[in-house]
Amino acid sequence: MADNEFIIYTDGACSGNPGPGGWGAVIKHGDKVQEISGRADETTNQRMELQAAVEALRYIPPGSRVKLYSDSAYLVNCFNQGWMKRWLRNGWRNSKGNQVENQDLWKQLLELSEKTIIEWIKVKGHSSDQLNERCDRLAREAIDGSGENIAGEDSLLVDNDWSSSSLMKSVPKVRRLGVLTGGGDCPGLNAVIRAVVKGAGYNYDIETVGFNNGFKGLVENDAAVIDDYRVSGILNRGGTILGTSNRDNPFDFRPGGSDYLETGKDRSADAVANLKKWEIECLVVIGGDGSLLLAHRFSKLGVPIIGIPKTIDNDLPATDVTFGFDSAVTTATEAIDKIHTTAESHHRVMVVEVMGRHAGWIALQAGMAGGGDIILIPELPFEYPYIVEKIMERRLRGKKFSIIVVAEGAYPAGEEPIYQQKGAVKRLGGIGPMVSREIEKRTDLESRATVLGHLQRGGSPTSYDRILATRFGVRAVELFQAGCFNKMVCLRGNHIESVSLEEAVKGTKQVDPNSELVRAALAVGTSFGCPL
Ligand code: F6P
Repeated sequence: MADNEFIIYTDGACSGNPGPGGWGAVIKHGDKVQEISGRADETTNQRMELQAAVEALRYIPPGSRVKLYSDSAYLVNCFNQGWMKRWLRNGWRNSKGNQVENQDLWKQLLELSEKTIIEWIKVKGHSSDQLNERCDRLAREAIDGSGENIAGEDSLLVDNDWSSSSLMKSVPKVRRLGVLTGGGDCPGLNAVIRAVVKGAGYNYDIETVGFNNGFKGLVENDAAVIDDYRVSGILNRGGTILGTSNRDNPFDFRPGGSDYLETGKDRSADAVANLKKWEIECLVVIGGDGSLLLAHRFSKLGVPIIGIPKTIDNDLPATDVTFGFDSAVTTATEAIDKIHTTAESHHRVMVVEVMGRHAGWIALQAGMAGGGDIILIPELPFEYPYIVEKIMERRLRGKKFSIIVVAEGAYPAGEEPIYQQKGAVKRLGGIGPMVSREIEKRTDLESRATVLGHLQRGGSPTSYDRILATRFGVRAVELFQAGCFNKMVCLRGNHIESVSLEEAVKGTKQVDPNSELVRAALAVGTSFGCPL
């Protein structure tokens, strides 16, 4: 332990709430240990928890590094989850708009904590942790006055036999996992975060530290411990509680993200240093191909990594399915169902552009589920005469409308996919409106295009994605516990397995034009806008 490092355990107790209260703290500095405690006549449990932390922090020289362990989730969350910042902004009002209780103590705590580099750590109740139990006893002894170390003695930390006893040695080292979500978001990210946090905490007493906004948070050390409370109620929520970014590359880091043209800096060393600061044993990266490639680079720098595949595009070759895909297909299918009714009313050719980058999975599956008449995917460059032929054939059969589902990466044979450019970054998109314009030119029919865009990435995950995400998260923790690093969890058949990161980042999984899936679509009369 370095000279400026301190460990503090605190606890409060009350005989009746409110009632006479006591607080206790154990402060450890190298081999020296000090126990302090105190009593108050009429107080509450929360007040005593706060008092314990305030009194203990008074012993700490400014600039020291402190690990403060408490079993009060409220106290720890206040600092780790930014509640304090929110209260400050809102004039010491909580999320319900009420004045925060015990402001006097919170303010002292804030002031004291700002003088040190402090890490707030939640421990389980006193029964599972001997130092916490010791603090609890100190607090209870203080209530009835039987304690020996009553506050007010502001002695310096003293040598104490007890410090070298088995009690000190039995303090368990907190094991930590880091987690971040990188790349474009997708439904199911929260379900994985929840599975990692709960799987690690419940089964192995492992703490999870979440880095905010993907690799940006890792570079800038924007992180906090994620406790059980924070992952409660998020299973069905879209997005990611950690935030994400598909523009921040630690090896080419630009303050404004990759969209900006200026040259980036290699900040990977900062990222690694931040992992060390948090004493993180392994980083769980939840991401698509871009984030997993970065994760792979970090593994080469010696960072133990476990990858979890996510993307609505389903284009990662090492897993049969990525979570997020099923939800995107469900959203796109619902949209196609709706487009169907208006297409029919107006006798129009409706073109629906879906995402998927250079893979046609979303277009193919949503197109099949939504009864698209023509499905255009990047794996099968299309030709306009085949599209027009299909529309006309339908017309002859009395079907005055048609639905075309086009993947954003699809393109006419002999041409290139269409991109939109912003700054230094090119993103796919625009083929839907182009196909629609071309149909109006080549036929006497009216056509409209709808680009579904980010709708496909939003909203609640389907039950399939929630379950897959949970299985992936749990397996990632199991791999960590087993010491199997630099792997990505994956789905093979109906089994959760793992592959090396090396394997995981190879290539793109595209639709096989000869697959049973494509043949099934052809068998029910779907056209792919090309000879098949
Ligand atoms: O990879 C997911 C994805 O939604 C692609 O389907 C799409 O091409 C891309 O991300 C869009 O990225 P952005 O959110 O940066 O516009």
